[in-house]
Amino acid sequence: MRTQNTHVLSNMPQDLSEALKEATKEVHTQAENAEFMKNFQKGEVTREGFKLVMASLYHIYVALEEEIERNKENPVYSPLYFPEELHRRAALEQDMAFWYGAHWQETIPYTQATKRYVQRLQEVGRAEPELLVAHAYTRYLGDLSGGQVLKKIAQKALNLPSSGEGLAFFTFPNIASATKFKQLYRSRMNTLEMTPKVWQRVLDEAKTAFLLNIQLFEELQGLLTQKAKDREPSQAPDLHRRAGSKAQDSVPAKASRGKHQPSVLSQAPLLRWVLTLSFLVATVAVGLYAM
Ligand code: HEM
Repeated sequence: MRTQNTHVLSNMPQDLSEALKEATKEVHTQAENAEFMKNFQKGEVTREGFKLVMASLYHIYVALEEEIERNKENPVYSPLYFPEELHRRAALEQDMAFWYGAHWQETIPYTQATKRYVQRLQEVGRAEPELLVAHAYTRYLGDLSGGQVLKKIAQKALNLPSSGEGLAFFTFPNIASATKFKQLYRSRMNTLEMTPKVWQRVLDEAKTAFLLNIQLFEELQGLLTQKAKDREPSQAPDLHRRAGSKAQDSVPAKASRGKHQPSVLSQAPLLRWVLTLSFLVATVAVGLYAM
């Protein structure tokens, strides 16, 4: 077993916190530049998109925090166990009820990319708990950093109350200063003892964690684009039925259309025939009358 001091001679950062930041610099930029995130930063986020990503985060944090609970006494993770300050499951449950209503547990989506992320978290927590730090770092330090900017953007773009309803995920009531807490968290990460091999695997796992997030963004963007395309051909009649309906914004347009109802347009040829016939009858009648 070697501690982090043995890295002094190499070019690598001495502290795990610095090494993680350095190792994930490139994938962080990649995550920021994912189309879903770029749109988000521009304030181009819809309720539909926001609901999708929040449901994914719910599944991800349930899995992450289950694995954390499993390993809370394991020295490979225990210094990072901060349930009161960090854990997001209860907050996400509140958000799910806000966005999806009382029956959210039966109705929230669970996408393929979310399932892949959850599966990796479970594998790590059960078979390679020494890598759990990589996942906790990627999510919690991210939420305490860029997450705060995203909260303000969502609040404005989605016209949400300043009370924070629907955004509990982004609020950490038991952390007075995010900056100070991040310092504490980094110093705790730096107390973890690990072999050079495990050190490298932790850095690789952090990159994997970022990639799982990026793949999720790509998937969600694809779903949103597809739904928008599905809605395109007959947007107008649908708009009336959808206006003001908060609950419907995640329902695929096709599913909500229901049975085809004959429209005024589709009755037009018949109408034309009736009018022409009436005109002919009237002409003949006038002709007969004149004779
Ligand atoms: C629009 C997207 C994003 C923006 C604007 C953003 C912004 C930021 C900012 C400003 C910081 C603070 C940098 C510093 O203190 O030096 C940060 C840190 C961080 N972000 Fe992001 N971020 C975004 C997406 C993500 C995503 C998707 C993840 C991972 C899921 C992530 C994970 C992290 C982590 C782990 C840190 C802490 C780095 C460290 O101090 O070691 N970020 N982010």
